[in-house]
Amino acid sequence: MSLEQLTEWERFATSLAVEAGKMISSASGKQKKPETKTSPADLVTETDKAIEQFLFGRIAEQYPEHRTIGEESASQGRKSEWTKDPTWIIDPIDGTTNFVHCFQYTCVSIGLSVDRELVLGVIYAPFLDKMYTAKKGCGAFCNAKPIRVRECPGLSEALVFTEVGGARTPEKRECVLKNFDALLWKTHGIRAIGTCALVTCLVAEGSADAFFEIGLHVWDMAACVVIVREAGGAAIDTTGGHLDIMDRRLIVAANESLAKQISDALAIKKVVLDRDCL
Ligand code: IPD
Ligand code: CA
Repeated sequence: MSLEQLTEWERFATSLAVEAGKMISSASGKQKKPETKTSPADLVTETDKAIEQFLFGRIAEQYPEHRTIGEESASQGRKSEWTKDPTWIIDPIDGTTNFVHCFQYTCVSIGLSVDRELVLGVIYAPFLDKMYTAKKGCGAFCNAKPIRVRECPGLSEALVFTEVGGARTPEKRECVLKNFDALLWKTHGIRAIGTCALVTCLVAEGSADAFFEIGLHVWDMAACVVIVREAGGAAIDTTGGHLDIMDRRLIVAANESLAKQISDALAIKKVVLDRDCL
């Protein structure tokens, strides 16, 4: 795959993200009527569905031979296969609960894999007007300016984010609370803002040092993993090993050593969950 090709895909994805951002903004301030999915805290709105349909339609028109994986069609039972073909992996709105509550940390997330390797990430937060982009091997950018992770000496000086997610099972509760407790006194602080994509971008631009979560999905991870790695950061499995984006576990950090320290400190490193697709 040439740089020219990658650049063309990036331009395309960026223009889609701008359009999706307009769809998010046009619902600004309006009362949303969310439906629930797997739990009373796992929400979806008409806007999530409309954006995913719009993005899938545009991709099918422009690149009919490409595949797509998206959160809302997967929720409706569409079987997604992750193959070696170019595959657009999309979260139409990351931070849906924030969107419902008019909390401005919400974004569209568009990743692309080729040969099952993540090569492009575009994340746009319309209310913050921040467009994060990264192509494999070319660095990471916010609004076209290069971004870089912070130099963080270790866990005791790190600002670490985690997320609770929408699942409401006893296992998930135990996992969240035990891991929160395990890290709390070992860091400068722990935060949660309700969007894994934007939190990862905060790590990429050096405003946060690390983020971990068990239970997220491939569409939560695809774009942001490219962005944080291209900004000089690390992305690994919560068990401390190699990241497989189908495994629903992620640590991102300003550097590999910090990512490993977080993995070592976690009380629960793994929960058995269904994979998204094969
Ligand atoms: C969720 C958010 C949240 C994370 C969940 C994700 P959604 O995505 O990123 O921060 O904890 O695991 O599913 O539902 O807002 O697209
Ligand atoms: Ca979503």
